Amino acid sequence: MSEFKRLVFSGVQPTGNLHLGNYLGAIKKFVALQAESDCIYCVVDLHSITAQLVHPDLKNQIRSIAAAFIASGIDPEKHIVFNQSAVPQHAELAWVFNCVARIGWMNRMTQFKDKAGKDRENASLGLLAYPSLMAADILVYRATHVPVGDDQKQHLELARDIAMKFNLDFAEGIRQGGRGIDITVGEEPVHAYFPMVEPLIDGPAPRVMSLRDGTKKMSKSDPSDLSRINLMDDEDAISKKIRKAKTDPDGLPSELEGLKGRPEADNLVGIYAALAGKSKAEILAEFGGQQFSVFKPALVDLSIATLSPITSEMRRLMDDTTHIDAILKKGGERARARAEVVMNEVRDIIGFLR
Ligand code: AMP
Ligand code: TRP
Repeated sequence: MSEFKRLVFSGVQPTGNLHLGNYLGAIKKFVALQAESDCIYCVVDLHSITAQLVHPDLKNQIRSIAAAFIASGIDPEKHIVFNQSAVPQHAELAWVFNCVARIGWMNRMTQFKDKAGKDRENASLGLLAYPSLMAADILVYRATHVPVGDDQKQHLELARDIAMKFNLDFAEGIRQGGRGIDITVGEEPVHAYFPMVEPLIDGPAPRVMSLRDGTKKMSKSDPSDLSRINLMDDEDAISKKIRKAKTDPDGLPSELEGLKGRPEADNLVGIYAALAGKSKAEILAEFGGQQFSVFKPALVDLSIATLSPITSEMRRLMDDTTHIDAILKKGGERARARAEVVMNEVRDIIGFLR
């Protein structure tokens, strides 16, 4: 065999409210990938305790991410939707990866530096090891493709480094069991047990920016609620936030070139394009020469038309959580069965007795 079977995996943390950045950077892509791939989508609750240990309403936060997946159109029968803590093999493989990865690799992660802030010594050990668990999430299914927003690129590079080092360090164990696959990484032939994961980041909105400042990422942790559109916002809130979104005084250009140096305009055009499933160039061909007073109302209409059916379905699912709970339970069982096959091979490759 010369190729790993294509399998999509991604995860979203159950912290705070989902926003338009999460939807366009991740969930909308998850939905689109279902047609062509086998997919596993995970609510990564183990990751959520790395930055903040105690979450008073964690169970409902977990459910609401699963509800967002389902409401957006993910099919939990054809694919797998579950929460990470239901599959202990993630944490078990993460431990192995903690021993494969080097402390220096973790120290270089920009997300760790941002989240730990000035007082690094006081950050949790889990926050430092976060990317190791993320690599385990993906590789415990030997998944090959990972749709994420641009901010996760560095973590996926690290997942490749971990996979590569595991493949090389355990080359002998992998060969003995006849479990590897011959691949080439760059020019080099490698007999690999774990695939080199491919990030799926492209699209018109890989990085959705704050509505108040086009140079800052739209984020759950921004103190200003006007900076983001939440998936649970009602129509009035969406309309108000887009009308108040920061722009410059010029109208829209007709060519992509004209968005250079105009981060707010670029962001709004990217959002429109991603919502419409078109490219930014196509949107500029439509709106070039128009003022924001024309473009913003069109963006409000498109945002509401796209998001309100999702919001109302999420609300319906959250009203009676038995359906969501059943989906997560069944997804967890299916995921566990698959992860255990890989973990058994990993235990053999390393040489643990079982
Ligand atoms: P998180 O909520 O941090 O677990 O992120 C879930 C997914 O949303 C990840 O794939 C992120 O890369 C993506 N994401 C988060 N914020 C943004 C943003 N502002 N623009 C695009 N994607 C984002
Ligand atoms: N770190 C990702 C984020 O904050 C969430 C995540 C955890 C993830 N494990 C993953 C994403 C595995 C993709 C694949 O957005």
